[in-house]
Amino acid sequence: MTSLCSVFRDESKLDINYIPAELPHREREQRLLEEFFSFILQCPGRMTQRVILVGDVGTGKTALAQSFGADLTSQTKRKNLKFHYIHINCREFRGSLQPILHKIVTAFRSNYPARGYAADEILSTLMQVLDEEETTLIVTLDEFDSLIEKEGSDAVYKLTRIHETRQGKPQRLSFIFIMRDLKATEQLDDSTKSTLQRNIIRLERYGKPQLIDILNARVALAFRLGAVEEDVVDLVAELAYLETGNARFGIELLWRAGKYADASEFSHVRAECIRSAVSAILPTLRRSDLASLGFHEKLFLLAIARYFKENQEAYVQIGEAEKAYKVICEEYDESPKSHTQIWTYVQYLSKLGILKAEVVAAETRGRTNRLSLPSIPAFELEQEMQFSLQKEKGEP
Ligand SMILES: Nc1ncnc2c1ncn2[C@@H]1O[C@H](COP(=O)(O)OP(=O)(O)OP(=O)(O)O)[C@@H](O)[C@H]1O
Ligand SMILES: [Mg+2]
Repeated sequence: MTSLCSVFRDESKLDINYIPAELPHREREQRLLEEFFSFILQCPGRMTQRVILVGDVGTGKTALAQSFGADLTSQTKRKNLKFHYIHINCREFRGSLQPILHKIVTAFRSNYPARGYAADEILSTLMQVLDEEETTLIVTLDEFDSLIEKEGSDAVYKLTRIHETRQGKPQRLSFIFIMRDLKATEQLDDSTKSTLQRNIIRLERYGKPQLIDILNARVALAFRLGAVEEDVVDLVAELAYLETGNARFGIELLWRAGKYADASEFSHVRAECIRSAVSAILPTLRRSDLASLGFHEKLFLLAIARYFKENQEAYVQIGEAEKAYKVICEEYDESPKSHTQIWTYVQYLSKLGILKAEVVAAETRGRTNRLSLPSIPAFELEQEMQFSLQKEKGEP
């Protein structure tokens, strides 16, 4: 709840999952998507499409795809056409095709078993289900590079050529692939690459004036009238522009600055709140990265955060980190995962840049790993993890 004297009117409008009804400065890209998929309204079942959305961090790829999906869903409803839109972030599934396909099938058959079927089998079940439902489907595979990295050409080939094995049947499954750059597609074989690269929509970085428009629209939804003045929006736009034209960075800054303003009981978001917010948001680490972690990865990070908060040390030995993790598991009433599993977490968290793992000589003999937190204060990480774990457990 937002308190009476808060600068916010509705802070959920600054949440990373909020999709605004309008996306200023993405009208052209939106129209292109509509063009590519116009057959869904005009002649569903007669063709399919694959489109790549590519653009830097925070350029609105996810927001564009989701708002397009929502629009098309309501248009097809009005025309009594059967259509579904499903948005999947491949990174949440570590790029594995099998659980991704399982997730798609469960949108139609909620009790489809999670184990026991290979990707190929699930894909043909999916096609069968779409036939039974007589529906067309657009699946957006967001952060698609993680799927290419994990599964390689073969999986992409299967997905993009599925209709070739269904001669004479209605064409039901289309894709939008989202990537920050096209590097990952270079490792695909030529035919898959050419299938994919026919329809590419590029989202260029936002300039400062565009960021001002985007932020102003969000300020009007999220803040009390007059709580964020023009020069403050200007400053945020400037900072977001310097951060590679990243709209997410600007929106996060606004939210945090609002929090600082409330904590100091200011009636306005002042420039100094923005500056405090900047120093708290580190470019290498985003709330969205933290939010996409699994429950036990969060428990493990919470353990590390507590350890560093309580011990004025720069490093923790992996054994000590595991002990701290077991204590947290007890607190959350969870059974701790195995050492091998923890090690996978460490590797993944290092890849994201949240942890740093190094091999050092052990005190007694052999070698061990030590961990550090390179870019986020332990206190902040603790808060973020506690907050997000409580949310997942459904506690207030
Ligand atoms: N044109 C726009 N109008 C309004 N809000 C926007 C616009 N572009 C981006 N945003 C907002 O900025 C934030 C970042 O956008 P989004 O998540 O779509 O970026 P992305 O390109 O998917 O980034 P990433 O590569 O990091 O996933 C979201 O909160 C989104 O709603
Ligand atoms: Mg995205």
